[in-house]
Parts: sequence; structure tokens; C-alpha cells
Amino acid sequence: MLILLSINYKNQLLKIIFASQNKHKVEEIQAQLTSNIQVKSLLDLNYVDELEETQETLQGNALQKVRFVHQKFRANTFADDTGLEVEALNGEPGVYSARYAGEAKSFDANMDKLLLNLKDKENRKAQFRTVIALIWNGKEHIFEGICEGEITLAKSGTKGFGYDPIFKPIGFDKTFAEMDLAEKARISHRGKAVAKLIEFLNRNNTD
Ligand code: IMP
Repeated sequence: MLILLSINYKNQLLKIIFASQNKHKVEEIQAQLTSNIQVKSLLDLNYVDELEETQETLQGNALQKVRFVHQKFRANTFADDTGLEVEALNGEPGVYSARYAGEAKSFDANMDKLLLNLKDKENRKAQFRTVIALIWNGKEHIFEGICEGEITLAKSGTKGFGYDPIFKPIGFDKTFAEMDLAEKARISHRGKAVAKLIEFLNRNNTD
């Protein structure tokens, strides 16, 4: 009897908010979740106002978003922020990846600007870095994931979002935009950070 009770307690459904309105990210993360974790995004909660990201670091932005949403909905919440860091451009666009080519946040214009800025550079090494900030039972936690690769000479592939068509991860001869969700999640920056988050949640689900 005691054993059964404790198993049920351990298997309880974990409910958590993902402080994001980006449907690509929500899909990527949902594809990775274990069945005991139920994520509601801001899209599910019909929250459409843009979240402020005014800090100068990925961690600062992730914390800014998670604190705001946690305070608003009073529930366990996580938020992510990602940047593409290009070695030959001293880590640019980094925390400014979304607005690299301007406030319109156009994926195509961002990629075009990056390809132009790398036109004469031999070194095309780059990495995506994701920082996830979690507020779990009132305490803050940080998880990070990095995926190294290079910027291709031209766009290739139609899946994914953002800079996916021009980013080729190390060890692959195709871009992120030529991979399906599960393949990208296994090796990507966000996939690695989310794996750490899931491991934490499963370890702490009796708190
Ligand atoms: P965010 O602030 O985390 O949404 O990310 C900033 C920008 O980085 C996005 O607008 C995208 O352009 C880019 N980005 C983030 N994650 C990815 C990804 O997994 N693949 C390609 N681009 C990404």
C-alpha cells in the first residue's frame, strides 16, 4: 500500500508554463518531453503581448522573461533565450540575433545580412547557445546548451526557423533546416538545454 502510494506520487503530472509565443520552439520542445510533463505555452494561455527582452546577455533575457511570466500566472515557469555566436564576427549577432537586420525580425533579412558580413571570411565557425531560466517552486535555476557548427555559403532547406537554413552542425553534411524536429532536438543547443531541464524536473517532481 505504502509503495503504491509513493509510486503514484512520483508519477504525478508535472505542469509548467513555457514563457514563449514562438510556435517553432514550442513544437521542438514538445517533441522532446516525457509523458509526465505537460507544458502550456503563452499561445495556449492566449497571452499575445510581446515579452520584453532588454538585457545584454542571454541569461539576463531568459530571467527577465521567466520572472515576468511567473509573476503574472503564479505557476512554475521556464523561458529560453538563444543567440547565434559567429567566431569571425566576435560573437555577433549573439544576444541580438532576432533583430540583427532590424526591428522587423525577418529571418530572411537576418540570414542575408550574416551571409554578406561573412562574404570574405574564411573562418565560418559559429555556435548556437541557449540559456533556459526556470522558476520552480519559487527558486531560480539556469540550464545551458551549445551546438557548434558553421555558417554555410548559401541557404539550404525549408524546415525549422531563424538561421536554420544557413547553420550546419559539426559532423553533419546538412543544415538544421534539412533535419526533422527529432533529429534537430538530439543535437541542438535548445535540445541539450531542454534535456537538462527535463532531467531536473524528473529529479525534483516530489518537491
Ligand atoms: P530567441 O530570442 O531565443 O527567440 O532567439 C533569437 C533569435 O535567434 C531568433 O529570432 C532566431 O532568429 C534565432 N534562433 C533561435 N533559436 C534558433 C534555432 O534553433 N535555429 C535557428 N535560429 C534560431
